[in-house]
Amino acid sequence: MSRILVIEDNETMRDGISQTLRNMGHEVIAVSGGPEGIKVCQNGGVDLVITDYKMQGMDGMQVLEQAKAIDGDIDVIMITAYGTIDLAVEAMKKGASDFVTKPFSPDELKIRVEKVLQFRQARQESRKLDEEVRYLRHQIDTLYNFGELVGSSERMRKVFERIKKVASSDSSVLIYGESGTGKELVARAIHSYSNRSKGPFVKVNCAALAEGILESELFGHEKGAFTGAIRRKKGKFELADGGSIFLDEIGDVPPTTQMRLLRVLQEREFDRVGGEETIKVDVRVIAATNKDLPAMVRGGKFREDLFYRLNVIPIELPPLRERKEDISELVHHFLKKKCTELGKRVLKIDPKAMEILMGYDWPGNVRELENVMERAIVLCDTDRIGANDLPVLVRNLEREHILKLPDKDLPLTEMLEDLERQLIERAFEKAKGVKTKAAKILGIKTSALYYKLEKYGMI
Ligand SMILES: Nc1ncnc2c1ncn2[C@@H]1O[C@H](COP(=O)(O)OP(=O)(O)OP(=O)(O)O)[C@@H](O)[C@H]1O
Ligand SMILES: [Mg+2]
Repeated sequence: MSRILVIEDNETMRDGISQTLRNMGHEVIAVSGGPEGIKVCQNGGVDLVITDYKMQGMDGMQVLEQAKAIDGDIDVIMITAYGTIDLAVEAMKKGASDFVTKPFSPDELKIRVEKVLQFRQARQESRKLDEEVRYLRHQIDTLYNFGELVGSSERMRKVFERIKKVASSDSSVLIYGESGTGKELVARAIHSYSNRSKGPFVKVNCAALAEGILESELFGHEKGAFTGAIRRKKGKFELADGGSIFLDEIGDVPPTTQMRLLRVLQEREFDRVGGEETIKVDVRVIAATNKDLPAMVRGGKFREDLFYRLNVIPIELPPLRERKEDISELVHHFLKKKCTELGKRVLKIDPKAMEILMGYDWPGNVRELENVMERAIVLCDTDRIGANDLPVLVRNLEREHILKLPDKDLPLTEMLEDLERQLIERAFEKAKGVKTKAAKILGIKTSALYYKLEKYGMI
């Protein structure tokens, strides 16, 4: 059911049209003049206006213009006794949905109205779909593409969701992860998605500084606080006021500094080194560590109270080897990024090279992959990165098959026997347990293999 406004100065016509529309099941508001009709439009909720063209005072064209100005989505059907083409063209140009000439039968009106309403519905549905598509695109963008962060593995998606959730709060975040997993990128993403994003993002590497220097770096110092303090210096907490502070390698903070940090986290205030004045700050704390902080707490190396203050929201970044499905996406990301930086055409990658990259364990995580890609791009002199452009360490897939020498010094015969056993095991693995095949790999007769298997108690 639609809400239809009928504007017609002839009472008989008005009643006739209204009756036809009511019979169709619509809600009808009927008025005798333009100004009255416009008032109804202003109140909102009108889907369709059916207006006569020739009326006293305000004509149909003015009604059309004003109704469209109030709500561009209102449909208008113009009725006139003077069916001139010019008038129809002008009405359509101004946004009329249809143009009906008198006289017309109730059935003709019915068909015209139905058509306009059908179009209206289709238009609205398509707009709704557009909006949905836009919304979903935005969702996907934030889900899969978090600032600089690349990765669509289940585990990274969880990380992105968590970032999105925590960004808007002021709670402290503790990011765990091996070296090179992207802890700093995550910290920056949290800041840039928070409502502090216009404020500063200040990073402190807690591992790089000696104890005394770290304190003055974090909290600042007064002139003369220690030898060499020739002037007052603001600390990183003061510089981060209104923004976020990123305490990298928090596990390396020495005990006295831990105590001072606890005070900032609890009271949001501190004193400069050698100062009396209490300074208040509005700072969000994001910390990161590649250490097992809970274990350090258990071992008495890290204050438990500080740990709980920092660990309000933990985010764990999985090592790259536990989300190998992200490797290909990262490779393409770095290809694009590095080639652009180096002013090169974006290179392709050979399937064999990709296979090697996917097979490697990446102890240095994303940072190692980034370095390997950069090196390969620089070395590559074709338009495609091949296996040869990768470092030997990454390429050497066979290294886990390197035979192990016994730790102890054994007589030569025993060492050789040990090696022989390992070689037989490896041949069996390759031959998937088929003895004739294993013998072939080893270059001995099957009977000789049986003899050795028995000797080593392998059957
Ligand atoms: N998911 C990712 N997508 C794109 N680039 C990434 C991603 N994770 C890490 N990187 C890149 O890898 C490098 C290392 O990341 P980052 O410095 O954030 O790691 P980290 O965990 O802080 O390492 P460390 O513990 O060694 O300080 C950076 O150059 C970063 O841009
Ligand atoms: Mg880091």
